[in-house]
Amino acid sequence: MKTSFLALALLCASLALPVRAQSYTPTEENLKSRQEFRDARFGIFLHWGLYAMLATGEWTMTNHNLNYKEYAKLAGGFYPSKFNAAEWVAAIKASGAKYICFTSRHHEGFSMFDTKYSDYNVVDATPFKRDVLKELADECHKQGIRLHLYYSHIDWYREDCPWGRTGRGTGRPNPKGDWASYYRFMNNQLTELLTNYGPIGAIWFDGWWDQDQNPGFDWQLPGQYELIHKLQPACLVGNNHHQVPFEGEDIQIFERDLPGENKSGLSGQDISSLPLETCETMNGMWGYKITDQNYKSTKTLIHYLVKAAGKDANLLMNIGPQPDGCLPEVALERLKEIGEWMKTYGETIYGTRGGCVAPHPWGVTTQKGDRLFVHILDLQDKALFLPLEDRKVKRAMDFASRQAVKFKRVDGGVVLQFAEAPTEVDKVVELQLD
Ligand code: GLC
Repeated sequence: MKTSFLALALLCASLALPVRAQSYTPTEENLKSRQEFRDARFGIFLHWGLYAMLATGEWTMTNHNLNYKEYAKLAGGFYPSKFNAAEWVAAIKASGAKYICFTSRHHEGFSMFDTKYSDYNVVDATPFKRDVLKELADECHKQGIRLHLYYSHIDWYREDCPWGRTGRGTGRPNPKGDWASYYRFMNNQLTELLTNYGPIGAIWFDGWWDQDQNPGFDWQLPGQYELIHKLQPACLVGNNHHQVPFEGEDIQIFERDLPGENKSGLSGQDISSLPLETCETMNGMWGYKITDQNYKSTKTLIHYLVKAAGKDANLLMNIGPQPDGCLPEVALERLKEIGEWMKTYGETIYGTRGGCVAPHPWGVTTQKGDRLFVHILDLQDKALFLPLEDRKVKRAMDFASRQAVKFKRVDGGVVLQFAEAPTEVDKVVELQLD
């Protein structure tokens, strides 16, 4: 039954027919994978493609209306001689991150993996001729870190991809494209990605919004999601569409905002009960940008991670690898320093959920059962009121030193008392609740 459905799904995908979506019930494997994802709390995003060579971010092709045939010539010079997947994965693992999300194909349309369905890929179109995704996937599996794959619904290179609101100046001839052909292409590639690279933790779609001025447009997502779940039931589906999750999705993604915030203007959507993830850049750009050395401090990045955890969300923090195949030096430094912090404080992040005290300007709480971790990020005073209402506190201690912290029951909660106002990057007080 399972096999025949898979055969049908594959046949439909190859004919670009939608597989009729029944209402979605996640499998056991999928639910387990959601839980593991949620417990992981911290991942690293890698935006790597031909755009790294232009060194002005991943949107250069459309921002400068670069002709698609000219742009494609970049591939002939793509030779990241220092690329070493083992080093990437080791550095990322040492940061405490539990998963990597890699751009298998971004809006520029270049496949960073070996694909039968287009020659415009890292093996066939470059002198490098190495399947960088395969090398990365093998290392992830070897070093025990989960691999997620970003996959763009937009393609500024292919002539069969219908035009959306971006990539209109790249010289592709046919605005209407050929949807059936493009849908078949995407599903064929997704089938390769989920067949040739071992277990994939998630497919991270992006670009749905490109057709948001074209309300009649149907991305045929249910059939695509079903194909993914049939090929690898534990593979989570996420879509950076900036909407509440659609049927068939397993996680909810926020971009450059913590859930419930909408500072970047992309995240006004309601928060669902699915596992949450927000992504953010280490400097200001996703793809490598040579002029952007404006990296956030380690403290700021740790605060972002902690605040995400306090909102019950994962943080997917981005690095744009260089055209030579190295991760930028500053990014490596940040990974190392976050890793040092995580060695001590990881227990207050991994496997936790947003705590019973809601986020406040001073910080957030995370929780594991009756252990409440109070993350004090910004407090000018020597005392802190926690609105715990009737919850009884048995003990309070400084998480790192295990020294007792004084506390007093007051109306509506407890007050923690310190000798001095906290100055740590994150002062974590552990409360044992009754
Ligand atoms: C946006 C951008 C894209 C980037 C993504 C990461 O959707 O189009 O370049 O990959 O955000 O969140």
